[in-house]
Order: sequence, then structure tokens, then C-alpha cells
Amino acid sequence: MNSNHAALCSSREWAERLQSEVLAPLVRDNGIGGRMIEIGPGPGAATEWLRRHVEHLVVVEADPEAAAALAARFDDVEVVPGDAAALPYPEGEFDAAGSFTMLHHVPTREAQDRVLAELVRVLRPGGVLVGSDSLASDGLREFHEGDTYNPIPPSHLLDRLQELGCSRITVTVDRVLTFTARKR
Ligand SMILES: C[S@@+](CC[C@H](N)C(=O)[O-])C[C@H]1O[C@@H](n2cnc3c(N)ncnc32)[C@H](O)[C@@H]1O
Repeated sequence: MNSNHAALCSSREWAERLQSEVLAPLVRDNGIGGRMIEIGPGPGAATEWLRRHVEHLVVVEADPEAAAALAARFDDVEVVPGDAAALPYPEGEFDAAGSFTMLHHVPTREAQDRVLAELVRVLRPGGVLVGSDSLASDGLREFHEGDTYNPIPPSHLLDRLQELGCSRITVTVDRVLTFTARKR
């Protein structure tokens, strides 16, 4: 993340907006609980909230410093340094999986596809995938100067989740992109 992003994602304002506008409705409408995996937690805006709404939360973070900071901050979260495109878990391990403001930091469409495939693979049948991401805009491109900026097109996300065999897929384009799906 560049310094713009690091400052925004670790701010109280960002955490409150993500939690009230994205996470609360997604969790309320999708009955999320049990064992959950979150990928790309960064400074932990979603992690902070999710850990209080599921039985056990695992987070997988590519940046070793961010992972270490999360492990120091939360003693009730299992923090795993690693790549969400190669999750170190067997098929069907989780009841829920989440990705928030993360997919646009994955540099290629192929790698984004692998991340989505991994999220679905580690869900149990009937398990729920929830997520949100930024929509492409000139302002956001400028905000990411010197950083990875690869917003996923909503139509690609929909196609990919269908190809992965998910059911009850929703892709909502509003101020942000949100998505939900169930593993068959
Ligand atoms: C913009 S931050 C999002 C932070 C948080 N989810 C939020 O919404 O506030 C994106 C995070 O994804 C992480 N990330 C990027 N690619 C990843 C990958 N392949 N596997 C795991 N984490 C990744 C980055 O290191 C960064 O911490």
C-alpha cells in the first residue's frame, strides 16, 4: 500500500464506514458465523469487527509487517502471513470467507481469479462468500500512485463466481462494489 492508502485504511473513520455500511448489512443478510477466513486484512478495519461476529476468525495477509501488527493487536484472531492465491487450508475448511478492499491490490486478472477460486475452494458446501471492493475511477487511480491498482470489473466478478459453481450470487454496484455467493 502507498502512504495514502496506509493512512486511510488505518483510520477510525474508514473502519467505522466499512463496518456500518458494508460489513453489518453483509453479515446480517447472509447469516455469517462459525469459522471464517478473511484475506488481505491490512491494518484490520474489517478484522476488528468480524472477530466479534464469528466463532473463529483466520486472516491471511501478504505483507509480513501488517501480519505481525495484527497478531500483536488481536489475541483472538489466527493471523497467517501468506498469499491468498495459495491458501494453506484443505477444501471445505470454513463456513464463511471474506475479502474487503483487497482484490484491486492483486496485480493481474489471472491472480484475482486464483484468489477467488481459493476462497471458494476453502468454503464448505453451503458456505458463504462476502466481499467488497473499490470501483474504478480516475480519482482512485491517482490515489494509488506508486501502488498496485487493478479494480476488478463487476461483470468479471459475476462471471467468475458463476464459473466457480457458486449459487445465489449477488454483485451490487453502488458507492462501492459488494458481492455475496454460496458454495454449492
Ligand atoms: C487496501 S488493504 C485492505 C485492508 C482491509 N481489508 C480494509 O478493507 O481496510 C489490501 C491488503 O491486501 C493485502 N494483499 C494484497 N495481495 C494479497 C494477497 N495475494 N494475499 C494476501 N493479502 C494480500 C495487502 O498487503 C493489503 O494489506
